Amino acid sequence: MAGKIPATFIDELVARVDIVDVIDRRVPLTRKGREFQACCPFHEETTPSFTVSPGKQFYHCFGCGAHGTAIGFLMDYANLDFVAAVEELANRIGLQVPRETRDAAPVVPGESVGDFLRIVEQANSWFQQQLRTHPDARQAVEYLKNRGLDGKTAAAFGIGFAPHSRNDLLLALGTTPQAQQQLVKTGLITQKDNPNQSSDAGFYDRFRSRIIFPIEDHRGRVVGFGGRTIGAGEPKYLNSPETSWFHKGAELYGLHRARRSIGAANQSIVVEGYMDVVSLARYGVENVVATLGTATTRTHLQRLFRLAPEVVFCFDGDRGGRAAAWKALQVVLSEMHDGRQAGFLFLPDGEDPDSIVRTQGQKAFLHRVEKAVPMPEFLFKNLTTQVDMTRLDGKARLVSLAGPLIARLPAGALKDMMFSRLSALSGLAGAQLGGQGKTLNFNSRIRNRRNHPARSGQISPLAFATSLLLQNPALALSIDNFSAVRTLRIQGAEVLIKMLECIRGQPEHTTARLLELFRDSAFHGYLQRLAMRENFIDEDALEAQFKDTINRLLQSEHQERGLVLLEKSRQSGLDADEKAELLELLSDRIDNSRATV
Ligand code: UTP
Ligand code: MN
Repeated sequence: MAGKIPATFIDELVARVDIVDVIDRRVPLTRKGREFQACCPFHEETTPSFTVSPGKQFYHCFGCGAHGTAIGFLMDYANLDFVAAVEELANRIGLQVPRETRDAAPVVPGESVGDFLRIVEQANSWFQQQLRTHPDARQAVEYLKNRGLDGKTAAAFGIGFAPHSRNDLLLALGTTPQAQQQLVKTGLITQKDNPNQSSDAGFYDRFRSRIIFPIEDHRGRVVGFGGRTIGAGEPKYLNSPETSWFHKGAELYGLHRARRSIGAANQSIVVEGYMDVVSLARYGVENVVATLGTATTRTHLQRLFRLAPEVVFCFDGDRGGRAAAWKALQVVLSEMHDGRQAGFLFLPDGEDPDSIVRTQGQKAFLHRVEKAVPMPEFLFKNLTTQVDMTRLDGKARLVSLAGPLIARLPAGALKDMMFSRLSALSGLAGAQLGGQGKTLNFNSRIRNRRNHPARSGQISPLAFATSLLLQNPALALSIDNFSAVRTLRIQGAEVLIKMLECIRGQPEHTTARLLELFRDSAFHGYLQRLAMRENFIDEDALEAQFKDTINRLLQSEHQERGLVLLEKSRQSGLDADEKAELLELLSDRIDNSRATV
């Protein structure tokens, strides 16, 4: 296995790529003063609160609190793991990612993506093997056949079988304590709270007596599983838990293998269930993906729209399906750039794509897809049935319901046309609708909802100093008594000291580079929050504030240390060094010339 990527390389990479460039390719940015802005790709919004700072090489959303460096952005936006994000950035600027040799940096067991993927892949092979060889698999094979699946389709989707036993998977793969820990991390085995059997430490397999559907991420790597009971049983489907490598809100079942067909068909079809995808493929409809038991997200749609300009949602004909469709509509609005289309296909009550294609065949299903209700029609139909269109106040209500939704569309012909349609339906002139929602301010509610997580709360002087330094690395150069600062022992000071050392050694540090230094440390999350904290300090006052805070830290630490030494001298006496230290501390206080910086 490849070794660890050296920290120096990460540092160089972050220094060389420009976060504005990295983000702008994916989320077009507009300049606003010294920073860049866009509507946040990580949550729904119509007023931009997503801010990218070229100076700090850091992004931050005031709406949802998302934040990070260029590496972090790629990880979240493209759902890449750390290594893949680093590789992507490095490729772009023509750098080769170096690896430390094994001896220099042993891979921590259970920590690396490679380990995670390997154990999940092993489990995948094992499940498939069970379907072929386990004595109890006959029932599963029978079940699949009854559902119209042939061996070829089952193999194409890597369908497997988890036997009934409590811990067959554990026994097969958890051969070392490390492997057991990895299995726990993937959620494939669970540890009971009070283990009562010493032999297996209370572990048991997550999937038992189930048909297994391996879930590939968008790059085709198995990252989780869905397991269906054979026949009756609760819950009908059990899925792998979310891990840092498996996000249900980002992945779609079948996406990797459907990519080509989606491109060829110029269209993707989104269904609700694993079996729908598998059955449709069996009948030759391959441009199909399923959500993983969760609502459709913006990330899902961005993935799909990158492959083809049309998305057709296919929901079950029941009430749940209708509700899911309306939810999907609300999410798709902000993705409807001109040239894109979304349609909604509703099946008869009690049917799903799987049952339709099996009973009526491919042609009938595709015919329904063709007849899918276009997004604008679904929006207006749904809303006009909710209000009494014969009344003036009913029409006004339509305006208040539809306006904010239409306002979510990206600027363009579709948006204008939908406002015109609303105008025609309500009789309210386009100008009063404000075209882009100016007169009736459809965006105000969203704007008011904006919260500023970064602003809230008091923080300690140490955190404050750390925050100022992170955001303004040049402050490190303003400290002239660094040796005093180095003696700080208060918890967390080591981070501040390390940052000061780094910046003093290499003054061109940015916020992002500092953050990457700590990516693997327990402090990373804390530092990210401090990096985006709104400190409300004028630029001219920055240096004074920073020095003052550091002085306060030194002062209080000296006081505490003095008290400790005094107490000790009373109780057990001090050794020579301690006496000297106490004297120094006391004289500091007497001539009031405490260590200043
Ligand atoms: P459905 O209940 O519509 O199942 O759930 P289905 O796909 O038609 O299942 P079959 O045909 O009876 O086998 C749709 C999707 O919702 C998620 C799964 O992703 C499933 O494919 N789901 C459903 C769960 O995660 N857990 C459940 O208990 C049920
Ligand atoms: Mn079904």
